[in-house]
Amino acid sequence: MKFEQHWQLNPELTFLNHGCFGAVPRVVMQAVRSWREELESDPIHFLAPERELEPKLDHVRSLLGDLVGAEPANLAFVRNATDGVNAVLRSMSLSEGDEVLITNHGYNACNNVARYVAERSGATVQIAEIPYPLSRSEQILDAVEEKLSSRTRLVLVDHVTSPTALIFPVKQIVELTHDRGARVMIDGAHAAGMLSLQVEQIGADYYTANHHKWLCSPKVSGFLYVNPRWQDEVQPTVISHSYNRPRNNRSAWQSSFDWVGTYDPTPILAIPTAVDFLSSLFADGFQGYLRRNHDHLLKARDLICQSMSIGSPAPDSMLGSMLAVPLDAVLPEQVESLGQRLRKEFGIEIPVYPGLTDAEDQPAGQPMMRISMQVYNTIEDIERLRVALQKIGLV
Ligand SMILES: Cc1ncc(COP(=O)(O)O)c(C=O)c1O
Repeated sequence: MKFEQHWQLNPELTFLNHGCFGAVPRVVMQAVRSWREELESDPIHFLAPERELEPKLDHVRSLLGDLVGAEPANLAFVRNATDGVNAVLRSMSLSEGDEVLITNHGYNACNNVARYVAERSGATVQIAEIPYPLSRSEQILDAVEEKLSSRTRLVLVDHVTSPTALIFPVKQIVELTHDRGARVMIDGAHAAGMLSLQVEQIGADYYTANHHKWLCSPKVSGFLYVNPRWQDEVQPTVISHSYNRPRNNRSAWQSSFDWVGTYDPTPILAIPTAVDFLSSLFADGFQGYLRRNHDHLLKARDLICQSMSIGSPAPDSMLGSMLAVPLDAVLPEQVESLGQRLRKEFGIEIPVYPGLTDAEDQPAGQPMMRISMQVYNTIEDIERLRVALQKIGLV
């Protein structure tokens, strides 16, 4: 079955980069346009939290809670995962000698938040060095455990990593970390809409995710889960009225996130349309959507890895709907021109980047390219990529 007609992507383009900013289906674009028209027909009534906004947000929160396995009372809306990580880390008060643990697979923007909060308080950042390719999730657990110490206050890890597209064993990371008395924040930027999420079962203290990647919702929106124990401590990145005027009958935590100054809530309000749409594509609904992307990713992996004569960089169970392919024959200084060639000569949009680096002063890592398989992608897209790589001399 073909699905690309539901998206407005340029038909000249082979778009293999859904993981970066997502792409929004036509029906969801229509929904967000309708919400905007309704908003502009009566802006005060629509945006005043106590009139229409709070009930509308609560409706979405309840649907989202069912989808991601969290109590609606523990969910707040944020602009994106970077916003969620900033809200939590910048609300923490660290002391001199404390440690924040991140990984070398972490997203640079979010790792930077850890660096910033550590620097301003005299804490230090520890980096768990996880290999890639890898064959067992224990390699991740071992690397994290090695860097945990009695001074660790917070571990920031991704659920699905950006440079390596790995599904991390987050539940076990939470157990390990809690055993040492530290807290865990999970950056699930890619996880909502890629994995069958049960956020509260993971047991993390904080969890954030994007709706605009694999849930195919309009840019920009995400959620932040905070364990009820810590909600009083966590402020949004933009402090507004609720700080000294909490809204009646609502938790101070939630109302502070529900109003962060004038903003456009319509991307949040279009989430139910996106979830309904993705669920409508397969007989078994949302699970069918998740399974289809994973199955196609494994087919894409087989085709590309066989043509490059390399093994799978990770076991199937650690892959969702993205794959990071190591490009052994490419030098770090060639990644930019390779990405441009794929785009200009072959019409393929795919990220090519200098592998695992953690600090600006470190040498660039082994170049990689990341394949995303969203329902609008087909194996013919991967075949086009294979032919392009062959013409360039990489397979
Ligand atoms: C793991 C991870 N975290 C955070 C982000 C940031 O997402 P956003 O820019 O929407 O905040 C990304 C974006 O690709 C990501 O891959």
